[in-house]
Amino acid sequence: MGITHRSRPQLAARTVVLKQAAQAAVEYLEDLDRRPVAPTPKAVAALAALSGPLSQAPTHPSEVVRLLNEIGAPASMAISSGRFFGFVIGGCLPAAMAASWLVDAWDQNAGLWVATPVGAALEETAVEWVRNLLGLTEGVVGGVVTGATVANFTALAAARHALLARAGWDVEADGLFGAPELRVVVGEEAHPSLLKSLGMLGLGRKRVVQVPVDGQGRMRADSLPHLDERTILCLQAGNVNTGSFDPAGAICPQARAAGAWIHVDGAFGLWAAASPQYRHLVNNFDAADSWATDAHKWPNIGYDCGLALVRDGAALRAAMSLRAAYLERGERREPSDYTPELSRRARGIELWAGLRQLGRGGMAEIVERTCSHAQRFAAGLRAAGYDILNEVVLNQVLVSFGDAEKTARVIARLQAGGTCWCGPTVWQGRTAMRISVSSWATTEEDVEMSLKAMIEASRESSG
Ligand SMILES: Cc1ncc(COP(=O)(O)O)c(C=O)c1O
Repeated sequence: MGITHRSRPQLAARTVVLKQAAQAAVEYLEDLDRRPVAPTPKAVAALAALSGPLSQAPTHPSEVVRLLNEIGAPASMAISSGRFFGFVIGGCLPAAMAASWLVDAWDQNAGLWVATPVGAALEETAVEWVRNLLGLTEGVVGGVVTGATVANFTALAAARHALLARAGWDVEADGLFGAPELRVVVGEEAHPSLLKSLGMLGLGRKRVVQVPVDGQGRMRADSLPHLDERTILCLQAGNVNTGSFDPAGAICPQARAAGAWIHVDGAFGLWAAASPQYRHLVNNFDAADSWATDAHKWPNIGYDCGLALVRDGAALRAAMSLRAAYLERGERREPSDYTPELSRRARGIELWAGLRQLGRGGMAEIVERTCSHAQRFAAGLRAAGYDILNEVVLNQVLVSFGDAEKTARVIARLQAGGTCWCGPTVWQGRTAMRISVSSWATTEEDVEMSLKAMIEASRESSG
């Protein structure tokens, strides 16, 4: 068939298949409000048709796209619909999505400036915009990575480098064999991805010193252990369940005085800085040395788009950069000096596009609107007689519909009903449903429809 060769007819076929995919994508998005948020069990079962051994013969690209559209799309979760409230998942802004299509067409490798001037330049600008939106001081540098897990890893690698370098140890060259010991202090409510990052860095998931937390999951400043210049202290801005913030104002001054490295996991919460109304929540977090955040959460850039930001750029570059004769370096910022990856997608372009669409005002508006939707959910559920387990300070709501079994039944019924999607959690011993309002697409109507569905699911799950 020859479809793997680059001939004139094959280039024409490429145009056809790309238009077919674009058309299918647009129709998918236009249909979102008419389909259930979760895929039906039948649609999920049909995915079996896409598995099995790889055929010897090639498949025409149009046929590949047809299969994806007809069998794959119905089995997708309608995350862009505005009524998806699971995990902490935003939608994808139109400009970011369109930019992602262009980035695919451009097929840029974002490792080096010379390989992608546009990717490198827009990433540099976008990182600077993020630094500014988050209220971090000039000179803080950053890398664009896949998400907050890798952002935590990247920033903590810089921390590991800096603290060991101060002790006269070159961790990149000599590893941790025989290295001076570091202490890592985290809150009891640290996100598991932070612990995973510590494990990947050889600092141990379990070797951490845990600081007790209060009823909202905030580190208790009066229970801090001894801190010194060999300590990495990890704070959290935005607990995944409650949305609460560690008390940076009470903790940072003593941590700085002790010479500890302060790292902030602010996967979504740090974006409160973009809103004049919510900015106070991130007061004092700017005193840290490094920050991890996600642009695929509140800023609604498509996956995958995390950021590692570090005050000491030299420490980050020492931990991340590599050299080879064939990797030609220029005078400009080299993107791979700031990330674990060498080759990677030019996701800085999508970040640039989404932020450019929003502007400072748009980012503030998303934060404020989604937080006010969260307040409406909490008020509506409380009025219907259900327990809200957290202080709704941000965009996260925890609701209990009764005992653990009842709450689990409500969640299952709600998910199967298809109006909206929320997931479960256990908060300080109580089973709850999490409502995370993170999407630019969520309207007041979405909130009212979803509230009604939640209350109905609860009434139908009684007994
Ligand atoms: C506080 C916090 N840290 C880290 C993560 C992990 O983020 P990612 O899934 O982008 O790696 C999350 C995810 O919700 C989070 O809420």
